[in-house]
Amino acid sequence: MEEIRVAVSGTGKMGRQVAGAVAAADSMRLVGFLDGLATEDTLDGLPVSNSPADFFGTNPADVVIDFTNAAWTPGLAQAALDADCRLVIGTTGLGEEFFSWLADECEKRETGAVVAANFAIGAVLMMHFAKQAARFFDSAEIIELHHDQKVDSPSGTAKTTADLMSAAREEAFSHRASEKEVLPGARGAETSGIAIHSVRLPGLVAHQEVLFGGLGQTLSIRHDTTGRDSFMPGVIAAARAVMDSKGLTVGLDRLFGLE
Ligand SMILES: NC(=O)c1ccc[n+]([C@@H]2O[C@H](COP(=O)([O-])OP(=O)(O)OC[C@H]3O[C@@H](n4cnc5c(N)ncnc54)[C@H](O)[C@@H]3O)[C@@H](O)[C@H]2O)c1
Repeated sequence: MEEIRVAVSGTGKMGRQVAGAVAAADSMRLVGFLDGLATEDTLDGLPVSNSPADFFGTNPADVVIDFTNAAWTPGLAQAALDADCRLVIGTTGLGEEFFSWLADECEKRETGAVVAANFAIGAVLMMHFAKQAARFFDSAEIIELHHDQKVDSPSGTAKTTADLMSAAREEAFSHRASEKEVLPGARGAETSGIAIHSVRLPGLVAHQEVLFGGLGQTLSIRHDTTGRDSFMPGVIAAARAVMDSKGLTVGLDRLFGLE
């Protein structure tokens, strides 16, 4: 197997976990870190740069794995593509405009990128099952729960789940607003008739429950991430798969044989 040179974008909780997983993976070599808010030049003896163009100029990489912030990812993606480096993106809160730009760029340059709101197999299955259940129930709500340091809400997983559920149906879900909302926002945010409720508390990692309601019954599909290591097999598999993929792949369904 040919060695894959991997750069990690982000030196936060996920970036460090990914770096450890890359270092432990067969036929992968960690070449360094990118971080827009970096204060150190090195981490674990490897270079850290806040300039993607400079970094890729001196540290060629085959793939960059990004877990940072939506304000940083588009600039990183541009520099990576210019340096012929493929992308695996886990950062959440990215807009539709970015997705369509990235899809166009990948097609034009005949290269590959993977973006996934959640790299944990259980979460991928939860989204898959929710998509399947969506056409059998007319009402659904999502409760997502995360640690209190998370910057965006709702979570990328919740938004993606809602988008997949609504795409699986011909009609929007029916959302019953309260006649009197005593506290604004009590019914959550709403997209395609699905209410999304975001809980932020210390002690949590990443959790989500999708609730469906129908005549005389409810169905709950729940996933709990108890540690960030849950994301690593999916991240490493995506970094290997992206080396042979063409275009933008959104989500890990195909990678896990769920399509
Ligand atoms: N797709 C998934 O499976 C998955 C799983 C967990 C986390 N995430 C996402 O990964 C991202 C990082 O999560 P984390 O827990 O490591 O967070 P963290 O706060 O520990 O780390 C954030 C990193 O981004 C950098 N950063 C923050 N704001 C920046 C800015 N404005 N410009 C440049 N760099 C900036 C920080 O320097 C740091 O390296 C978040 O978007 C989170 O939602 C995705």
